Amino acid sequence: MLGEKTTEPRGEAPTLAIAQRALEFVYDDQVVGLGSGRAATAFIHALGQRVEEGLRIRGVPTSEATADLAKRLGIPLIGPGGAPVDLTVDGADEVDPNLDLIKGYGGALVREKIVASASAEFVVLVGSEKLVPVLGSRGILPVEVVPFALDLSRRKLLDLDCRPELRRDGSEAYVTDNGNYIFDCRISPIEAPAELDRAILSIPGVIGTGLFWGMADVVLVGHEDSVEIRKRGSP
Ligand code: A5P
Repeated sequence: MLGEKTTEPRGEAPTLAIAQRALEFVYDDQVVGLGSGRAATAFIHALGQRVEEGLRIRGVPTSEATADLAKRLGIPLIGPGGAPVDLTVDGADEVDPNLDLIKGYGGALVREKIVASASAEFVVLVGSEKLVPVLGSRGILPVEVVPFALDLSRRKLLDLDCRPELRRDGSEAYVTDNGNYIFDCRISPIEAPAELDRAILSIPGVIGTGLFWGMADVVLVGHEDSVEIRKRGSP
């Protein structure tokens, strides 16, 4: 569900399997970016278990929900500027063959992008249903905007052929951890993600988009009974 803030230790077998495999990327004394959403939550639970067993890491949370969960699990936390981030592990909503992503169905896109872009390595956890031939195939691109710019940015997004629908939380507008709103832009498959991203980001009042291009180093794909590892630049 769009905007769902999931931190409970639930997960289907493929989600639990990719979360476990992601632990292989974590070493003592690292600073680890902690993503948001179901896959990231499964990873944080697995990581918390390792911390309880003696693993020494510090986490950088990408949402308030993730910070609360990490604290509950005893994972020490710092902010994104506290130390160089060695690794970030997060989910995604779409992954294309180049390992470019759409994220943000869970609403944490801006902090997720800040932490991922500060990381030496970015590992993404998805089920096979998130693999798409072209970004935009699921028809939604989240865009975070400051409330003051709501009407202006709505008009400018329409000019770019993105059809913005304000995300709702019941009868109210959904509010991000940054105090902003999200437009779920109805889109067709995107021919040039970098160009579209730049055009949207040039709209005053837009804080961030769910387009994460050129960022993921590794994608762990959960299939029914196996985990596939995709690496940037590998065929
Ligand atoms: C949160 O804002 C999102 O970017 C999530 O990382 C993304 O929605 C994937 O979430 P799930 O693992 O819950 O599908």
